[in-house]
Order: sequence, then C-alpha cells, then structure tokens
Amino acid sequence: MLLTPATADRFVLSEVDHAFARDPYPTYALLREHAPLCRQPDGSLVLTRYEDIRAVMADPLTFSSDKRIDFKPRFGDSLLYEHHTTSLVFNDPPYHTRVRRLLGPFFAARTLRQMEASIGRMVDRLLDQAAPRGRMDLVKDFALVIPLNLIGDLLGLPWDERQPLLHWATAILGALEPVRSAAQLAEGNAAVEDAKAYLRNLISRKRAAPPRPEEIDVLWALIEASEAGDGLTELEILHNSIFMLNAGHDTTGSLIANGMDLLFRHPEERARLGAEPELLKTAIEEMLRMESPLQIGNRRTVRNTRLGDVAIPAGTYLHLVIAAANRDPRQFPDPERFDVARDPNRHLAFSHGIHTCAGNSVARMEAMLAFGKLLQRFPQVRPLAPAVRPHRARFRVIESLEVELGPEA
Ligand code: HEM
Repeated sequence: MLLTPATADRFVLSEVDHAFARDPYPTYALLREHAPLCRQPDGSLVLTRYEDIRAVMADPLTFSSDKRIDFKPRFGDSLLYEHHTTSLVFNDPPYHTRVRRLLGPFFAARTLRQMEASIGRMVDRLLDQAAPRGRMDLVKDFALVIPLNLIGDLLGLPWDERQPLLHWATAILGALEPVRSAAQLAEGNAAVEDAKAYLRNLISRKRAAPPRPEEIDVLWALIEASEAGDGLTELEILHNSIFMLNAGHDTTGSLIANGMDLLFRHPEERARLGAEPELLKTAIEEMLRMESPLQIGNRRTVRNTRLGDVAIPAGTYLHLVIAAANRDPRQFPDPERFDVARDPNRHLAFSHGIHTCAGNSVARMEAMLAFGKLLQRFPQVRPLAPAVRPHRARFRVIESLEVELGPEA
C-alpha cells in the first residue's frame, strides 16, 4: 500500500515488501511526521522519533529487553527461543549485568590495541589477494571477511573452522525479521543446533589444551569464570558466544558495505574525504547514522508510562526504528544529506543506555582499517553494478557489491 500523510497510521511492519526493504527511508519519514507512535494490528507500536526512542533506550526499568513473552508465540519451544532468550541483549538486569561484566575486559582499549595490528595485516592480505584480479565482491571478499576473522580471533576459533559462521549469523538473525517464512525458521533452528554442537566440541578441546595466558580468548575466559564459580552455566556460555559470533559479524560487514555504497553514491563527499583523509572518523559515524546496520530494536513496557502526551499501558511491545530516529530533522540538521564531516552526530546506531553495543569500539576500529586501507591503496575503486539488497527490514544488508579496484596508488 502506498502511504500518504493521511494514511501513514495504517503502516504495518509485518507486511513490508521488497521495495520497502530496498529504500525504507521515505516511509519512515512519513511515519515520523504523521504517525510517530504507529499502532500495529497486534497492539504493538512502531516508534520513529529520535527523542522517543532515546528516552526508551535510557530507561530499562520501564522498557524491558526480556523477550520471553514476545518470542514464545513466534519461536515456540525451539532452539531459536532458547538462544534468543539466553543472550544478554534480550535480557534485563541482573542477568544482563552479570554477562556484560564478564565480557567487559575484552572490549577494553588495551585489548583493541592488541587486535588492531593483526586485523590490519588481514585487511592488507585481502587487498593483496584481490589486486591481481583487479576486482572483487566488496561484500563477500572483504566486508564480511574482516569481522568474521575478528570474531574468530576474539573467541579463539581455529582459522580453518570459521567458514560456517556467516551462514549461522544470517540464519539466526534472519529469523528475527518482521517478515519471515517457515523455511527461514527451520534454517535458524538448525543453525543454533550446529553452532551449539560446534562450540561444545571446541570447549572440550580447549579444556584438554588450554590457550596460553597471553592469548585473547573470550570463550576460554567464560569457561574459567564458570569453573571459579562466579560465571555462567554452560548453556549460557554457548548462547552468549553464539550471540557474539552473530552480533559482530553481519552488522560490521554491513557498515563497511553500506559505507562504500554511500561513498559511491555521493562522489562529492568521497572527493572531500580523499582530500582530507582525517575526516574518516566522522565519515564512519555518518555512515552509521545514514545506513544503520541494525535498523530496528525492541522493548516491552513493564509498567504504565507515557511518551510525550501519549499514554502507553504496561505490556505494550515497542519497535524502535533506529533508522528513522537517525534521520530525524529535530536532532540532525539537513538529515538526508550525507556529510562526511558532520559533528556533532549523536546517532543511535549502537543503541543507548545499558544495552549500548559492547562491540562499538571494535566495529569502529575495523571500519577505520577497512576504509582507510582500501581507499588509500585503490583511490579510484568504483562499483560495477548497483548494490544487491535482500528482503530484510531489521538489518540493513547488502548481499553483493561488485567493484573494480582501479590502479594502485
Ligand atoms: C557496526 C557494527 C555494529 C552495530 C551497528 C551494532 C549494533 C548493536 C546494537 C544496536 C545493540 C543494542 C541492541 C538493543 O539495544 O536492543 C548491540 C548490542 C550488542 N552488540 Fe553490537 N553492533 C555492532 C558490532 C558489534 C561487534 C563487532 C560486537 C562484538 C565483537 C558486538 C557485540 C554486541 C553485544 C555483546 C551486544 C549486547 C549488549 C548488551 O545487551 O548489553 N556488536 N549492537
């Protein structure tokens, strides 16, 4: 259905089509202006204004992340249900706080510095491999490979065992889409089963041959904490590890692919970045704002509350459209303009409050290395065909983006 200002309040998130998935922003602009708390047929609300969404993210006591109620009808008694309801992102304190505290040290600046050199070498290797061909699929040969290996390093996965991670991430996160098929659910469940079996086996191998103390290995740290009695159960370790494998993979790949796509579509901003490479930091924030990898988050009210002058009863499910908040003209001057020097830029791409993305510094570091090295070595890289986007609304994904590298600088 074509929405107009008069019909914006009839928008139904669970019925969005492929055209919407390709370009959801005009619809989100209509909602933001004419139906900012848009009621859905199931009683839930779609929120699109920056101020409302930030306020929800800031108040976990009123707006819960616990998904047990919402995922039961969707996933039944399945492995997807077990997985999503055990990962920290879909839980409230005190469980959330416990997991977050255990993960904290791995996202500290010192650990990042330790990983930076090895990720830099990996980016160089990927470009070395593509150089003789003169072209690559920016998504499959570059954007997804970098986070795949970073997460592999972080969790201490042997090099030659990382290939299934991409499929697991796509299958498990794909099942969270507002529009999904029975086949997608079956695939998601099978992926959780495979990932659990793999990690169980890896844990027993690590127990038999523990990693060296100086090696970064989140999985091993979680195992050691649980053996010391202040950690997680084995099931909690498995699901939080699977969550991290997924959370850091598709999203970071999507930042790199969407970021390059934005530069291709805005040659004047790309030229500006070429002339002033020190703008890369603000350019990456602008990419996160314009094409937020996670476009929609959720919360449920646990008590009666209000947003502005609208009363919201306890038990209301909320869809937080981060992608719409990040283009709200009340927060961002000229929000449809891609401005590589935009500052300030308080986007919500990494959420806000207690669930702020634990991996945000890691993702920013990967993006700095990926864009920095690619653009420096191949300043004339250009697309050979438009980006291919799948039918997904929750995640802003590019499936494939063929590029010609051009001459080396
Ligand atoms: C550009 C890349 C990324 C984006 C856009 C992103 C986005 C997000 C968002 C929006 C949330 C919060 C969801 C909510 O509030 O309901 C989140 C949570 C999380 N992310 Fe990321 N993420 C990215 C990369 C990563 C990476 C690389 C890792 C790990 C290596 C990671 C690990 C996590 C974890 C552990 C949480 C749960 C935090 C909590 O609930 O306390 N993310 N991410």
